[in-house]
Amino acid sequence: KPRIFSGIQPSADSLHIGNYIGALQQWESMQDDYDAIFCIVDLHAITVPQDPKALRDATRTLAVQYIAAGIDPARSTMFVQSQVPAHAQLAWILNGITGFGEAGRMTQFKDKSARNGADAASVGLFTYPVLMAADILLYDTELVPVGDDQKQHVELARDLAQRFNSRFGETFVVPKPQIQKETARIYDLQIPTAKMSKSAATDSGIVWMLDEPAVIAKKIRSAVTDTGREVRFDRGEKPGVSNLLAILSAFRGVPIATLEAEYEGRGYGDFKRDVADAVVDAFGPIRERTLELQADPAEVDRILTTSAQRAHDLASAKLAQVHEAVGLYPSL
Ligand code: TYM
Repeated sequence: KPRIFSGIQPSADSLHIGNYIGALQQWESMQDDYDAIFCIVDLHAITVPQDPKALRDATRTLAVQYIAAGIDPARSTMFVQSQVPAHAQLAWILNGITGFGEAGRMTQFKDKSARNGADAASVGLFTYPVLMAADILLYDTELVPVGDDQKQHVELARDLAQRFNSRFGETFVVPKPQIQKETARIYDLQIPTAKMSKSAATDSGIVWMLDEPAVIAKKIRSAVTDTGREVRFDRGEKPGVSNLLAILSAFRGVPIATLEAEYEGRGYGDFKRDVADAVVDAFGPIRERTLELQADPAEVDRILTTSAQRAHDLASAKLAQVHEAVGLYPSL
């Protein structure tokens, strides 16, 4: 089976609906047809300051959310990045073939460093896409299912794979991003022209997967729409309605055009109520399972360590090949 690899940072207590639609929901549906590896990327999280205890808890809670959302540790490999040292080791090697200007062109780095001033950004934040390339390339990954904000990073991984192969001989599979069309980017419910992001200033525009059902319903009912009354997909004129259409389309698994036809001649009230119901129906049970699984942290850690062992075996074999190709001493 072709290999897929993807990851999420443990940098908040709960995933949001953008992470779910952009990543987790796609992953869940790909487990049968692909050899899937899903990572919890704690090394990426420490490129900005983290509280140590909160980080370790968030890492476990993220693993629990993967399982609760349908990732099956018996079928898919699901592990914590820092348990497999080859990620950091390969990232260092790839740093040597990455251009300073090339890394500086990553738009996410530019946005993040502009927000807090360049002096506040760490070197880790700058080289973070190289670590992401290492994650992907260690496992002969063919497809990387992500939201659209990660596309440029996957393209860097492609470029680095090609560059490495041409300099040192065929070593890496050249990966491709796998991005859904309309749902690749979910927007903030209160500012529907801004990407939904865990670092947003206010909470009311973010639907967290672990929000209580009543809270989810309220946030969706209060989503910003526009003064018209037509439920129509038009990102320019109707960003709020378009975002809700994308969300409903993802949860019902039907095309946006079908929804536009269904809501023709009906107002926003009906529409928003149905969006809220669809999200609550999906997230309610995920929340329950998360709370259940959280009661047994030792079992969660056992699952993660078992999976990390498989990842470690695959990654070490690739790293040995890289050492050989580059002229480094054999890794132990
Ligand atoms: P992260 O943790 O920021 O986000 C995890 C996933 O959620 C997607 N996503 C969204 N999708 C749609 N709409 C949104 N508003 C939205 N916000 C986030 C992201 O595209 C991503 O798929 N660098 C990565 C993690 C990473 C990784 C990797 C991913 C590290 N190594 C290797 C793939 C392969 C990140 O910070 O994602």
